Formats: sequence, C-alpha cells, structure tokens
Amino acid sequence: MSLIRYRRISIRRAWAWPLLVAATIAAADEGKHGPGDVRDGYERADYKTDSSSLQSRRGSATDLLNVLSNVPLGLPAIPVPDDNPVTAVKVQLGRKLFFDRRLSANNTVSCAMCHIAEQGFSQNELRIPVGIEGKSVRRNAPTIYNTAYLERLFHDGRETSLENQVWAPLLASNEMGNVSIGAVIERIESLDDYGERFAKAFGRGPDMQTIGMALASYERVLVSADSPFDRWYYGKQESAVDASAKRGFEIFRGKGRCSACHTVTQDSALFTDGQFHNTGIGYRATMRPVDTEFDVLLAPGQATRVESDLARTTGATNFRDLGRYEVTMLPEDRWRYRTPTLRNVALTAPYMHDGSLATLRDVLEFYNLGGVPNEVLDPMITPLGLSDAEIEDLIAFLRSLTGSNVGSLVSDAHAAPIGGS
Ligand code: HEC
Ligand code: HEC
Repeated sequence: MSLIRYRRISIRRAWAWPLLVAATIAAADEGKHGPGDVRDGYERADYKTDSSSLQSRRGSATDLLNVLSNVPLGLPAIPVPDDNPVTAVKVQLGRKLFFDRRLSANNTVSCAMCHIAEQGFSQNELRIPVGIEGKSVRRNAPTIYNTAYLERLFHDGRETSLENQVWAPLLASNEMGNVSIGAVIERIESLDDYGERFAKAFGRGPDMQTIGMALASYERVLVSADSPFDRWYYGKQESAVDASAKRGFEIFRGKGRCSACHTVTQDSALFTDGQFHNTGIGYRATMRPVDTEFDVLLAPGQATRVESDLARTTGATNFRDLGRYEVTMLPEDRWRYRTPTLRNVALTAPYMHDGSLATLRDVLEFYNLGGVPNEVLDPMITPLGLSDAEIEDLIAFLRSLTGSNVGSLVSDAHAAPIGGS
C-alpha cells in the first residue's frame, strides 16, 4: 500500500465522472482495487502486463471455415441460420470488424479489446472490462469460443442471436459508445476499406443486418474442442488425460453434481444446459454495503482515493445486478444467470458473471461450501463435502477442457488487421 501514490479527488468535478464509474466497482470487493484488481502486483510501478502489444502481434491466418465440415471432437454440428450462411468473405469481413477500433464513437475501442484472443477471447486481467473513456462495464466479459451454440446470449440471456447481439456493445455508452445505429452505419460507410468488402459479402453496403451478419459469421466459426478430455472420453484414447482428471470427471458427474447444469451427453458436451440458475454470487453482491471511500488504481503504481456518497451521486445502484430477473421480471429469476460453458475455462479467469472469483480453486471452494444461501438459491447448490484431493481432481478435469485448436485461432486473430491502429 505504501508503494502507491495517492491523489484525492472530489466527485463534484465533472472530469472525474468516468473514474467514478470505474470506482463504483471497487466498492464491491473489499481489499481489492476495482478494475485491474486481478492484476497481481499492479500497485507496483514495475508491473508488466500479460497482454501483447500491437507491435508484438504475430500470427498466421488459418482456414476458419474448416470447422464447419470438420467439427472438433466433442461438439455437435455448428448451427447456422438459413438466412446467414457462413462464407469465407463474410468471415473475413467479420474478423476485420471485430478488431477495428474505428467502430467505437472515438476510434479507441474494438470488440477484441474486451474479448482478447490470447486470453480465451475473454479478459483475464480485469474482473469487469473498461469501455470507452474509461467507463466500467457491469459484468465480466465471457469467452467468444463456442457462442455459436448458445440459444440465449449474455449472462442474463437477454439476446437470442449473434446477429442481433452486436448492437448492444456498439451502442452501450460504456462500451463502444455510438449514439445510434445510423451513426455506426455512416461511420463504416465513410471508411474506404469497407464498401467493396460488404458488396462482395452481401451484394449491398453496411446496414443494420449486414454488420451483424458479418460479425456473427466470424464468431460462429470460433469453435474450440478436441481437448484432452474429448480425446479420452469421446475418442477413447486412454492416455489423453491423467488419472487425476479422470477422477475429477467422476466427481463432476457424481458427488459434485456439476453435470446437472454443466451438461455432458453421449456424443458431445457443451457443458451448459442453457438454463438460468442462482448460485448466490449475484445475491452476495447485491447485499454488500456500498463503500463511500476507496482507492482506484489508474496505472501501475498510480492510485486515486475516491470519496463520495456513491449511492446518491453516481447511481451506484446501476451496478446492482439481479440477473435473469432484469429480463423476465419474475421474482424467482432474481440472481439467476445462464450456466456458462466450461470449455476452455482454464483460459478465461476470472470467473462468474461479475468476475468475483479469481481462480478455479476459488470456484470449487465456493461450490464446496454450498454457494451463498438466499431465499431463491438453486436447490442443486448445497454443501458438497469435497476433500482437498477431490477439489484438485476437479481442477485437473477442468484444465483438460482446453481445445486443441486454440493456438491456431489465436494465431489467426493476431494475423487480423487492426483498424484504427
Ligand atoms: C467494453 C468491453 C466490451 C466490448 C467493447 C465488447 N464486449 Fe462483448 N461482452 C462484454 C461483456 C461485459 C459481456 C457480458 C455482458 C452481459 O452479460 O450483460 C459481453 C458479451 C458478449 C457476447 C455474449 C457471450 C455469451 O456468452 O453470451 C458476445 C457474443 C459478445 N460480447 C460479442 C461482442 C462483439 C461482437 C463486440 C463488438 C461489436 C463486443 N462484444 C464488444 C464486453 C465487451
Ligand atoms: C445449479 C446449476 C449448477 C451446478 C450444480 C453447478 N454449476 Fe457451475 N455454474 C452455474 C452457473 C449458473 C454459473 C454462472 C454463475 C454466475 O455467473 O454468477 C456457473 C459457473 C461456473 C464456473 C465459472 C465459469 C465462468 O466462465 O465464469 C465454473 C468453473 C463452474 N461453474 C464449475 C462448476 C463445477 C465444477 C460444479 C460442480 C462442483 C458446478 N459448476 C456446479 C450453474 C451450476
């Protein structure tokens, strides 16, 4: 703590506003510093990030469409909507858009900055990401891998197709900050490297449908499986995983009751039932008192102490999260979130919809204690009585779920042009 230099700021100053939105998050996790709070050592001026710089990005393109005919072991066929068949031109266009910072209102934020390829297309260093002008987003950035299979998108399942989903980040005032759909279309029309590509892909220019269709086509082919687990369980290769991971899988299906929600079937495994459950994570965050004074780390070794009556002045209540209830308004849906896939879970820390659990061990210890009791806790969540060795086995199993093509997908992403660099 003594290594940190503090400045005091008053929330009455307008320029401090974006910081405060970021700061609000800090209140949620005592002992931590808000955005950046899973960056161990960030309080030291010599902190080194795990993210690669633009200059150090090196990669080679891969045949992304190959997965459509050769689905990786362990996954079912990729569902493709009739009105948006995947083509190579669309995927290339979608990939270009995904990495283009010019899609944000001030040319600074691309999709790929929150869904970072080398971090499982999620974000390891931030519990919750920071969007345009330093504004924090309320929830953890989920992986893009295998979103092709999801019938309901977002932690609360409020969106139903990849094509439509793109408009949420493009228009959110704390993500990419565009003021309207028309503004995004005009922006893309004004860039001379897009007209021809849209014409080739769709026979027309950028519009509300084609922008979504292009981005969705890229995301749809980011599927990843054929993991050591798949090679053992579906491929019958005995030596693909070790004894600990095998024991872990037995606990996963047995004593741990994990597969009741993280589904595994005879021929394939998405590790999600697509349903919404209350494990108590959201309840705990909602019940936590809001701090009136706390630190925000702005850069390595640089912190700001912020003091305020947050609930009143910054709308801290916006960061309360009621989960599926916010979509359905049904009382029983309070603090329910969609069961996330566990494929590639070793790559996508921190965990849960708010990123409040830093490691897989934290997640297992959370389940072992029976989640956080509340009046609408899922009946499947009860204390498990797992020994330390059983927890280690479960972790070994979860670590065996990293797909074999992750390296080539990351390399392909690093070969993508960065718009606005
Ligand atoms: C500022 C960070 C940020 C940016 C920029 C961003 N996202 Fe996200 N993304 C998130 C967060 C956070 C969520 C989860 C939000 C929620 O569940 O309410 C999310 C969710 C998603 C999901 C749903 C995944 C799932 O498991 O349901 C998809 C797909 C996605 N984003 C794609 C994109 C695309 C495409 C873009 C660019 C047009 C983009 N994102 C830009 C942070 C970001
Ligand atoms: C009642 C259904 C249910 C059961 C049983 C269950 N989970 Fe979950 N799991 C969920 C839900 C829902 C979430 C997301 C919670 C959130 O976002 O706040 C989740 C989140 C996770 C995550 C974090 C994934 C991420 O990307 O953030 C891991 C890891 C996990 N579960 C593993 C397990 C294991 C291991 C077991 C068994 C010990 C288990 N789960 C049992 C429903 C369940």
